[in-house]
Amino acid sequence: MDKIRITGGQRLNGAIPISGAKNAALPLMIASLLTDETLTLTNVPRLSDVTALSRILSNQGVDRTVAGKRIGQSAETGQTISMTARQIVDTCAPYELVSTMRASFWVIAPILARMGEAKVSLPGGCAIGTRPVDLLLMALEKLGAEIVIENGYALARAPKGLKGGEIVFPKVTVGGTHTALMAAVLAQGTTVIENAACEPEVTDLAACLVKMGAKIEGAGTPRIVVTGVARLGGAHHAVLPDRIEAGTYAMAVAMTGGDVLLEGARPELLQSALDVLTRAGVEIDSTNEGIRVRRNGRGLEAVDVDTDPFPGFPTDLQAQFMALMTRAKGTSRIRETIFENRFMHVQELARLGAKIRLDGDVAHVEGVEKLTGAPVMATDLRASVSLVIGGLAAEGDTTINRVYHLDRGFEALEAKLSRCGALVERISS
Ligand code: EPZ
Repeated sequence: MDKIRITGGQRLNGAIPISGAKNAALPLMIASLLTDETLTLTNVPRLSDVTALSRILSNQGVDRTVAGKRIGQSAETGQTISMTARQIVDTCAPYELVSTMRASFWVIAPILARMGEAKVSLPGGCAIGTRPVDLLLMALEKLGAEIVIENGYALARAPKGLKGGEIVFPKVTVGGTHTALMAAVLAQGTTVIENAACEPEVTDLAACLVKMGAKIEGAGTPRIVVTGVARLGGAHHAVLPDRIEAGTYAMAVAMTGGDVLLEGARPELLQSALDVLTRAGVEIDSTNEGIRVRRNGRGLEAVDVDTDPFPGFPTDLQAQFMALMTRAKGTSRIRETIFENRFMHVQELARLGAKIRLDGDVAHVEGVEKLTGAPVMATDLRASVSLVIGGLAAEGDTTINRVYHLDRGFEALEAKLSRCGALVERISS
């Protein structure tokens, strides 16, 4: 298994191109199951999660072509992928495939909507918490699906097709909202989704579905109204830039000091995180080309943060922010409100010398004078990248094991950081 070795202490200066968002690309790819025409996505990041989902979709009958490289295109320019599900050849998504990636459970909605039945393995637990799918199934039931759980699978049936209905989510769920949207677009009649997730990835999926012929109003607000249509067609859609990748590199620059332009990053997608960084003493400027992040000379202030659904501070940046706060002046209080067990990075950050005390869903992070390099590993991708941020500021070498977590969600991480002066190398074994 590959490792990443970081020799800490270098400031970051230069430019980092921001890739297409993993968490937008995945539901967009799944939406290709809704039509027999071709859905072409541009700016798709080169990530192992994208490859894994492609494999799952081809099992259901999606043909895929990846456009070749164009003149002047760098290795980091996103891919263009065309997907055509002329026929869904298998309405079952098996355990072997779904267990590798939770988001693949979302195929249940388009398969059910198009074929009247779907059998999808329940995804099981994961490193950041129990992550049930009860709300996704509830949404499908509200649209008339009959669902039974048998032998580890959710079997959903709607022999006469799905019917519009009212879905009220008791808590904000991104996957629930994606599922509800993909089911409702082909249901007969009108669906109202209340307490919908407002995350930009939901808005991006809705925008793509509208290009495919869906009728959706209110995406990006807590109330979405969908008027079902008989069929959807093909479309071209560019995946939105990755706000979590942008926020991660912003925190890396905040950690090391320096001056970096995050090319293509859109501030409105991560305003809450940028506000927190500003309060911590980081200079943030929006430019036509992206977001410029600077910290020169000044130390970091401790800032308290609660994670929240969009537009709040994202849970997917909590680990990275915690790494940053290990070097702040004073104690920062970080509350995780989305997932019950998303503090797996705490013990590993402690190996670098961080002082963090856990109290239920709150981490108290006491800033320390210095971090020192160590071998570390993490169990999910945001936790892994928090260790990269720690390593960039630590004295000496930090070796991060289980790099496959990083490859799931960060395109060309070593190349992007090295180009800005970081000493980062991948050690293949
Ligand atoms: C998406 O996961 C993202 N994944 C996650 O990013 C992200 O952390 C999360 O949204 C929150 O923003 C993708 O987009 C692929 P949820 P999702 O449904 O949709 C509970 C990353 O690192 N819940 O919004 O699975 C759930 O347990 C990943 O890129 C239920 O109780 O998250 C959680 O506490 C990690 N029942 C809360 O809702 C359900 O049926 C929010 O989860 C569904 C969810």
